[in-house]
Amino acid sequence: MHHRFRPRRLARAALTVALAASPLVIAACSQYPNSVFHPRTDTNRDVGFLFEILIWFGSVVFVVVEAILIYTLVRFRRRGGTTRQPEHVHGNTTLEITWTIIPALILVFIAIPTVRTIFRTQGRAASNALQVEVIGHQWWWEFRYPQYTSPSTTGRIDTVVTANELYLPKGRTVNFRLESRDVIHSFWVPSLSGKRDLVSNHTNYLWFTPDSAPSTAYNGFCVEYCGASHANMRFRTFVVTPDEFNAWIAHQQTPAAFATPLPAPARANVAAAPNAAQTTPVAQAGFISFPRDRMPAYTIPETPTPDISYGDPYGDPARGAELLTQGQGACLGCHTIRGNPRMIGQIGPNLTHIGSRTTIAAGLYPNDARHLALWIKNARKMKPGVLMPTIGRNEYDPQLGTTMKAGLTDQQIADIVAYLQALK
Ligand code: CUA
Repeated sequence: MHHRFRPRRLARAALTVALAASPLVIAACSQYPNSVFHPRTDTNRDVGFLFEILIWFGSVVFVVVEAILIYTLVRFRRRGGTTRQPEHVHGNTTLEITWTIIPALILVFIAIPTVRTIFRTQGRAASNALQVEVIGHQWWWEFRYPQYTSPSTTGRIDTVVTANELYLPKGRTVNFRLESRDVIHSFWVPSLSGKRDLVSNHTNYLWFTPDSAPSTAYNGFCVEYCGASHANMRFRTFVVTPDEFNAWIAHQQTPAAFATPLPAPARANVAAAPNAAQTTPVAQAGFISFPRDRMPAYTIPETPTPDISYGDPYGDPARGAELLTQGQGACLGCHTIRGNPRMIGQIGPNLTHIGSRTTIAAGLYPNDARHLALWIKNARKMKPGVLMPTIGRNEYDPQLGTTMKAGLTDQQIADIVAYLQALK
């Protein structure tokens, strides 16, 4: 008896495959912000194009092969009572040439655009590109702009240098020179480019042009395991207009100064003026930094703060500047504040314009008075493994396993915070 092939079964099988694959498709289309599926640069569009043609070619191959397989299973299945062997087809030259040529053709279709994209994106950047040096540290990012230098009051040549915040002008190719001070890190802004490692004693390069981006902020990550706070090594990238970028660079080249002369707090009001909610407004005469009210929600950190008690007294920026210059808290051993002749440490992030940054601790906490105070008081509770020592008096240091007998009082910390917050 002859069983006829039933197309309805084939349709049901195809429907099952389609339903199983649909969550993947939906996930790829969602508006998740840290995504390579929203390319904002020439490089990412090229890579995205390769991804798409690979998916389409792969899908066509999959559907054709599975269709033939299912058809064969149904059409040539064993019928009741039959003992006859199916026809053997090995040694069929026509068939073997055909299934050699078809995969070879598919590989050619994939290889040509792949090789072309590799040559285009992995060559040297345009000679007029913006140069940015990226230096990985455990666990923060140093960004240097060697094309933008200015002589300091002492005759030294100062380069524009920031920490954990990267500014890029729209429409200009940027060439990153990637290095590490310690272990291997990896630089990644998903919407802007692929990943590239930062290796000690070896310089890597990466370039792209943020040409299709609106002026906005993106999250950046370290994506190579680099120790205890690898997951806490983040940064923000701001893509701005060329005018805004020039204004930002010009401001970064100036030495530290209070954004607005802050009135000395009236002593009588000190006790009644809790400081944590107070934030000095960003004085944006022209473009100093990316406006906080335009920061996308996904760039604002929500890291829970550990249990650190802080009295939150009113801070006096002038007193804070004096404390730092005296060497209180030993901040000058690691940090630079250009314009303050004693703050010339090179180990930690440059704090010259820290008040204009949106986050602290490599993108882990928002940059406000309270988080900055807790950070100074006990950074090692705020970020496991951090090199920054515990500064707060009577604070428990989780790395040393001891309580610090010396150190700064809450009042001294509040004064230093008030000074740092004023450094726009
Ligand atoms: Cu640096 Cu992971």
